[in-house]
This record gives sequence, C-alpha cells and structure tokens, in this order.
Amino acid sequence: MVCRVVVGGFWGDEGKGKIVSYLALRDKVKIGVRGGVGPNAGHTVQYQGETFKLRMLPSAVVNPEARLLLGAGVLVDPSRLLEEVKALKVRGRVGLDPNCAVIEPRHVEADRTGHLAGRIGTTGTGTGPCNSDRVQRKAKTAGEIPELKDFLADVASEVNEALDRGENVLVEGTQGTFLSLYHGTYPYVTSKDVTASAVCSDVGIGPTRVDEVLIVFKAYVTRVGQGPLPGELSWEEAERRGWAETATVTGRRRRAAPFNLELARRAVMLNGATQAAITKLDVLYPECRGATSYESLPQEARKFVSRVEEALGIPVTLLGTGPETFQIVDLEREKGA
Ligand code: IMP
Ligand code: MG
Repeated sequence: MVCRVVVGGFWGDEGKGKIVSYLALRDKVKIGVRGGVGPNAGHTVQYQGETFKLRMLPSAVVNPEARLLLGAGVLVDPSRLLEEVKALKVRGRVGLDPNCAVIEPRHVEADRTGHLAGRIGTTGTGTGPCNSDRVQRKAKTAGEIPELKDFLADVASEVNEALDRGENVLVEGTQGTFLSLYHGTYPYVTSKDVTASAVCSDVGIGPTRVDEVLIVFKAYVTRVGQGPLPGELSWEEAERRGWAETATVTGRRRRAAPFNLELARRAVMLNGATQAAITKLDVLYPECRGATSYESLPQEARKFVSRVEEALGIPVTLLGTGPETFQIVDLEREKGA
C-alpha cells in the first residue's frame, strides 16, 4: 500500500498531470484525490491520443477504476467542474467534499481587476478572492449548491478508510512550491500554502499517513505572472532553446530559466520530499524523446540526472521523455525489477 503525495517543485507547470496520470495507471490506484488551490491550475494529460486539460478533476481520471475526489481545501467552480465531468463522462466516479468553498462570478470579476490582475498577475480564475471570502467566513460551500448535490462525499473518510484497507491512494497537489503563500516569493504567490503538508490538510489526511512525497521538477524552470525568476532568459533565448511555452489556463507566455539546483534543494526540504521526477528531459536532450529505459538515454542526459540526484540527496524515480503518459523512464520500476 502506498499513499503518495505529488507536488510541484518550482512555480507550477512542472508536468504534475502527466506524472500523476502515469502513477494512477501503474499503481492501479483506488483513489486519486486533488488538494491544492482550485481551477487556477491546469494539469495536462495526454493519453491514448487525447489531450485533457484538467482544471478541477484529478489527473488519475485516466484510470477508469479510480475514484476521483476533491478535498475540502479545494475551491470549486461549479460550472467548470460540471463541464469537465460531462466532457470526460466520469459522473459516477467523482466525489466532492461538502466543505469545498465555491467560486462565484464576483470572485472571478475581482480577480480580473485591480492589483491582483495588475501587480500580481493572477490567473483570473477567482481563487484568491474566494479564499479571501473563505477566511472571512463569507464563502458558500459545495454543500449549499443544489447542482453539486449528487457529487457530495465525505472525502476525508473515503481516503482514510481506503488507506486502512491497504489501498493505493494518489494525492495530487497543484501549483508549485515557490507559489506557496507561506514559503514562496510573496507577494507574487497564490492564495494559500501549496507544499505537501498543506495538500494533506486539504484532503484530510494526517502527516503520519503519507508514505512518499514525490516532487516534480521540469528540466528547466518556468513561471507565469509577476515575481522574481533567477536566471531568467529573454523570450528569444527561450524560443531558441525550445523552452518557450504558453500557459494552459491563461494563454500567457511562460517566462523561462535554466534548472536551478539551489531552489530545487530548498523545495525538497520544504516538502519533505522522498523522491523526485524530472519532466521534459526530451526538451533539453531531444535524443531522449519517447525513451522508456534509462539505458537508452544519451550520456549527457544521464549526467544531468545524476547531478540533480546528488545535489538533492533523494532518488530521481521518474523521467518524462515526451508529453504522453507512457513516454517515461521509470527508475523505481527498473531498480525493483
Ligand atoms: P492565482 O493563483 O490565480 O491567484 O495567481 C497567483 C500567481 O500564481 C500568478 O503568478 C499565477 O500565474 C500563478 N499561478 C497560479 N496557478 C498556477 C499554475 O497552476 N501554474 C502556474 N502558475 C500559476
Ligand atoms: Mg499548469
């Protein structure tokens, strides 16, 4: 039995969706549960020729056996959730904690004006204003919304009872460590803590229940919105290197910088990470594209991985070699085999 928490190591967009989709299938998880902030996140999953850009549902959606839950700490935008549930045809599998706070149109409006839109450069999805109402005890909860009635579930009990039965549970965080309200580059951060401890709290599991904390890094660093980014490259240079990305949620350009060992080390500390994944290795080393074994990686790429592993002091267990779920090198499995 494994209770694994997946978090982002930089400023989000590390490729958590891809990693979670892979683990959900590999580990035959019974529950994929999402913690984190809410629909400000966009987790991309490419599986069986289809691309899902998930804003609300856990990326474990690719495993038809998995129950899909949203923890009480998560903010829910009802229309987005209903849209995703319909598009992915997963109605019977989705459970929502009645204590999830609900994003209303006025939250979205407030997030798209004033200093949140201007100075901070938020995603404009209403999450900050909604969390602010929540703290003031003015937010509506999922339990009060008739359209959400069919989805309500005691998420904390479902997760803890699954663990009691010895089932695999995959807990999916959102954003990245340096967007944490507490540990990030304040005030250029999101509206709550997003480190592993917070993600557990969102879902309703205590720290003693967690077996592994997997931290996901991209092979280079990106950031959208305002705030510091050490080693930031010009857009032209990012384009030249093939690191020029646009954001899933807002369509904005992602600012880019080289992999940062110092930040990565700090992120491992803040999350108590026990293992790491590195995604988009194929963007740094194109010969890696689609590779599924460590042996087949070029020496340069292996050197990069070893250097990161050494600096972090935890094993690098997964390497992303392309956008699809199974374009991955699984070192945990290779070593176990
Ligand atoms: P908010 O979370 O929408 O309030 O935005 C606050 C900051 O976090 C902005 O810089 C956003 O661009 C950033 N942010 C929030 N969610 C994500 C995400 O999922 N990926 C990348 N950046 C994010
Ligand atoms: Mg994203």
